[in-house]
Amino acid sequence: MLRRLAYVSTPAPAFRAVEVGHIIEVSRANNAAAGITGVLVYTGTDFAQLIEGEADAVGRLWGKLRSDRRHTDLAVFLDEPADRVWFESWRMGYLYDEALTTQIFEWRVLQRRLDDIEIEGMRLLLASADAA
Ligand SMILES: Cc1cc2nc3c(=O)[nH]c(=O)nc-3n(C[C@H](O)[C@H](O)[C@H](O)COP(=O)(O)O)c2cc1C
Repeated sequence: MLRRLAYVSTPAPAFRAVEVGHIIEVSRANNAAAGITGVLVYTGTDFAQLIEGEADAVGRLWGKLRSDRRHTDLAVFLDEPADRVWFESWRMGYLYDEALTTQIFEWRVLQRRLDDIEIEGMRLLLASADAA
C-alpha cells in the first residue's frame, strides 16, 4: 500500500542554508534506495515536504524526520493512502515565494483535513516549486 504524507516545519535556529545541500545529497541516495518520491521545499524560513511511497518506507522516513533536530514544530497537513504517486522522482525546490510562505503558514495552522480542491492546489504548488 502506498502512503502520502506532507508536513511543514521550522528550521532549527542554528540551521544554515548551506546545510540544505547535505540534506539533499543524503536524501537523494536514501530515497532512491527506499523508493520514496516527493518534494522538499526550503523557503529560507520554512520547510514544506511531501513524501510518498510504500507505507513501510514512508513510516520509517517519517520516524527519522520527526527526530531530526535540524527542524522543529513539524505539522502534518496531509497523510493518506494513495493509489499512485504524484511525483515520479524525488525533487528539491528552493522557493522564495511570498504565496508559498503564506500557504505554508495556512497549512501549519490548519486543524482539519484538506478538501479535494485544496489538495489539488497543494499538488500544483509543490509541483511548480522546483521549476523556480
Ligand atoms: C527538512 C528535512 C528533510 C529531509 N528529507 C529527507 C528525505 O527526504 N530523505 C531522507 O532520507 N532524509 C531526509 N532528511 C534527513 C533525515 O532526517 C536523516 O537525517 C537521514 O535520513 C539519515 O540518513 P541515514 O539513516 O542514512 O543516516 C531530511 C531532513 C530534514 C531536516
